[in-house]
Amino acid sequence: MIKIILNNKPVELDVDPQMPLLYALRDELKLTGTKFGCGAGQCGACTVHVNGVAMRSCITPVSAIAEQAITTIEGLADNNGKLGDSAVQVAWREFKVPQCGYCQSGQMMSAAALLKAIPLPTDEQIIEHMQGNICRCGTYKRIKAAIKSAATRVSENKSSATASLSTNTINNPNGVEIFDARQFAHKKQGA
Ligand code: FES
Ligand code: FES
Repeated sequence: MIKIILNNKPVELDVDPQMPLLYALRDELKLTGTKFGCGAGQCGACTVHVNGVAMRSCITPVSAIAEQAITTIEGLADNNGKLGDSAVQVAWREFKVPQCGYCQSGQMMSAAALLKAIPLPTDEQIIEHMQGNICRCGTYKRIKAAIKSAATRVSENKSSATASLSTNTINNPNGVEIFDARQFAHKKQGA
C-alpha cells in the first residue's frame, strides 16, 4: 500500500509500485483531468505537481511519490483554497487560452509551478519553463500572455501597497497583448 497526499487529502494506493502515477490517477482514482499524451515524458500533457514542483506523471512510478504531496488540475486552487480559481486558471479563462483543450491541464500545472518558483518571470523564463509542454493547436502566444497576466495579478495582490514596482506590471495589468493563435496558423509559432 502506497500512501500519498493527493489534492490535500490522504490517499492509499493498492497498485503495482511501478505503475505510472498517470495511470493511478486516471484509472484507479478516476481523476481524468491529467491527460495521456506521449507517455514518454515528451509532451507535458500529464504534468502534475509533486511537492509543488511540476512532474511528468507518465514517467513517474507510484513508488517514487510515496508520502509525497501530489496536486492535479482537480486540486488547483486560489490562496483561499477555492478550486478552479488559481491565478493561472483565472487568466486562462480571461485570455480564452484553450482551443481543443487536450494539453491545457498540463499547461496550467506547468505555469502554476513556474509562478510558484518565479513569481514574476521574464518572457525568456516563461519560454524556457514551458517549452516542454506541447500544444498541437498552437496556443503558445495566449499561454504566454495568460502567464504574464497571472503573474501580474498575483504580484498586485501581494504588494498592492508597494509603489516601487514597474508601471508596466502594476499600473497596466491589462497591457498584455491578447493573441489569437488562429491568426498565426500559417506563420511560424514561437513559444
Ligand atoms: S504524456 Fe507525459 S509527457 Fe507526454
Ligand atoms: S489546445 Fe489543443 S493541443 Fe493544446
